[in-house]
Amino acid sequence: MIIEPRTRGFICTTAHPVGCAENVKNQIDYIKSKKTINGPKKVLVIGASTGFGLASRITSAFGSHAATIGVFFEKPPAEGKTASAGWYNTAGFETAAHKEGIYAKSINGDAFSNDIKRETIELIKKDLGKIDLLIYSLASPVRTHPDNGKRFRSTLKPIGASYTNKTVDFHTGNVNEVSIEPGTDEDIENTVTVMGGDDWQRWVSALQEADVLTKDFKTVAYSYIGPELTEPVYRKGTIGRAKDDLEKTAFTITDALKDIDGKAYVSVNKALVTQSSSAIPVIPLYISLLYKVMKAEGLQEGCIEQIHRLFNDRLYLDEIPTDEEGRIRIDDWEMKANIQEQVAKLWEEATTETLPKIGDLDGYTTEFYNLFGFRVPNVDYTKEADEMTGIPSIT
Ligand code: NAI
Ligand code: NA
Repeated sequence: MIIEPRTRGFICTTAHPVGCAENVKNQIDYIKSKKTINGPKKVLVIGASTGFGLASRITSAFGSHAATIGVFFEKPPAEGKTASAGWYNTAGFETAAHKEGIYAKSINGDAFSNDIKRETIELIKKDLGKIDLLIYSLASPVRTHPDNGKRFRSTLKPIGASYTNKTVDFHTGNVNEVSIEPGTDEDIENTVTVMGGDDWQRWVSALQEADVLTKDFKTVAYSYIGPELTEPVYRKGTIGRAKDDLEKTAFTITDALKDIDGKAYVSVNKALVTQSSSAIPVIPLYISLLYKVMKAEGLQEGCIEQIHRLFNDRLYLDEIPTDEEGRIRIDDWEMKANIQEQVAKLWEEATTETLPKIGDLDGYTTEFYNLFGFRVPNVDYTKEADEMTGIPSIT
């Protein structure tokens, strides 16, 4: 069928299989254009279908020929109805990997559940034996707790006081003020339950108990810090509490992995347009100004450039460079003083009238559509596409 974008706020309810596969191909080509990374060999990626998780899977497979198992939660297609973008991304990835004889299998289901953990471990035992890297890149607004079946919802709220600042509706380009009421203690707890470190720790301990981790096993989860400007809604808000918890959990996991010399890291990544970040108030305006400045300075990166740098310049060095809190930093370019000074200045000037000139609103909007396989160069959108495109090897 002919597939067009259908957007509702910060989501797009359709996705284009050819555009998604083309995005994946571009990321694969980027990795292939670099020299081989002395990287992982057998990798499990949780949240493998979009954003940083997909880039981690691609970097593993095409950077060091790693076998990958990807876990994600995506909507399969139905006759006349497209799948979600992560489904088509995975179809594109697996097809490309298999063509080059690279092992890739996927599991579609709720990573928070005990069942999916069990199923994943069985697949590792059957096909890989042991894994040497676990990437934890899950981003979800809800978690059904595996112990009691209760559903928890995460929020994106400030703590202590309401927060008012500018934001942009990137569909219309309108810059307006938003006010967000502070989260309650329950909001904080719920957000930590969904996006904190508990599920990461459960994955590692289930894998360790099943004896499917190699000696020197590593695991990495992704975090964000960002500038003062967004602190009330991000790092010092409810989601920031969850990231504090995630970062603390790295030490707990490392302690638990002493016997096998395993290590858990948090990598602090750059702000990027993904399905998750488009949902956060204020952040889209920040990103559109940041992109403008970073592009002008020649420092702009997408998910694949970020993860390539993570593997090549951090994670697989003999000595992994970290900050004083033990975190890997690949947000170093975003956080450069001269970048942040320029963004802060533009922030003051940003209005509906000025933004098209001082910010990269076009870049933001294009990347948003790209997430769903739309507006991708070299794709003919007037041609029929097969919405039933499947994933070659999925459980
Ligand atoms: P994303 O929305 O692109 O990817 C989320 C992934 O999680 C998808 O593969 C999705 O299928 C999977 N997922 C969601 N719920 C699931 C469930 N119940 N079971 C199994 N899989 C599930 O998100 P993005 O932006 O790549 O985020 C990944 C991590 O990176 C998050 O921890 C996020 O906080 C962090 N991060 C994101 C930044 C950004 O600007 N986008 C910046 C720095 C860190
Ligand atoms: Na991801």
